[in-house]
Amino acid sequence: MGEVTVQQRLPLSDGKSIPILGLGTCSMEKPVKGETIKAVKAAIEIGYRHLDGAFLYGNEDEVGEAIRAKIADGTVKREDVFYTSKLWMTYLSPALVRKGLETTLKNLKLDYVDLYVVHWPMGLKPSEKDLFPEDANGKILLDDVDICATWAIMESCKDAGLVRSIGVSNFNHNQLEMILKMPNLKYKPVCNQVECHPYLNQNKMLKYCNSKNIVVVCYSPLGTSKDPKWFDPENPIVLNDLELKKIGEKHNKSPAQIALRYQVQRGVVVIPKSFNLGRMKQNREIFDFQLTDEEMKAVDGINRNFRYITMKQFTDHPKYPFHDEY
Ligand code: A2P
Repeated sequence: MGEVTVQQRLPLSDGKSIPILGLGTCSMEKPVKGETIKAVKAAIEIGYRHLDGAFLYGNEDEVGEAIRAKIADGTVKREDVFYTSKLWMTYLSPALVRKGLETTLKNLKLDYVDLYVVHWPMGLKPSEKDLFPEDANGKILLDDVDICATWAIMESCKDAGLVRSIGVSNFNHNQLEMILKMPNLKYKPVCNQVECHPYLNQNKMLKYCNSKNIVVVCYSPLGTSKDPKWFDPENPIVLNDLELKKIGEKHNKSPAQIALRYQVQRGVVVIPKSFNLGRMKQNREIFDFQLTDEEMKAVDGINRNFRYITMKQFTDHPKYPFHDEY
């Protein structure tokens, strides 16, 4: 498996491009100090050129340190690495968008990010210190921000050179439509990053995004962490699926590799998280085989529209994205 394939890219509507495989850096548990640096350095060493992070994950300082170290030792140049970050929910109001991005850049100690996405369409009350600000009774303080106003500032951050491409995450298609129909739209979102795996194949979202030249980036492509603190033991486990196992046996690949290959083969960007070297290696070995049309259909057939990341605590938010079908 050569570098050429692991670094395969998809074009973005703004003329740039995104590597089809990236490394997720979100740890459900706050990672042990130094763990992210080690993982990101190792990922770059074994050929990953796309790293997906966010202010929320609390480790952008370490991601930045690892990227800078790999530039300093000559493994890569800055322009070889594609880094995505995300505008957190407490920064959606127009006055705070640029500040959110500048905080991320300061943590990374980088001059720009390659892609900056609005993490969720839902706003929370601005807060310097809390990711989920609460009132005195412990109720999370929601904020109904006009996402088009947020988007206009995202555009100005691109013009200011702080970010190369701008996109969204966890938007439903009606929320994407709102942006696409903005009277003074300057830049379309290049992507919508959404939960997507064989139990939530997002076929309708994919069809919609394809029709608008918006790339789908799929998070939790393996069905999320199995950490019992976060994962309901009643939830189905994607990687135990018999169909994925059966197809994997034919190709001498693991269910995880089948789940990832399924996405890249249909033109979807995947960003599996792993901080384990063996699994990071395994997850990039998806370019030396192909699924047949029947196998692609069989993976489509195990869809259950099952969402792990429901953000249930926000179902009353006026911008909650998952009341709509897609
Ligand atoms: P680890 O970091 O220990 O490898 P997702 O990206 O769908 O949210 O899944 C990430 C979870 O799946 C992490 O808990 C990660 O743990 C685990 N994981 C990553 N790659 C694999 C793989 N190839 N096989 C099994 N589990 C994996």
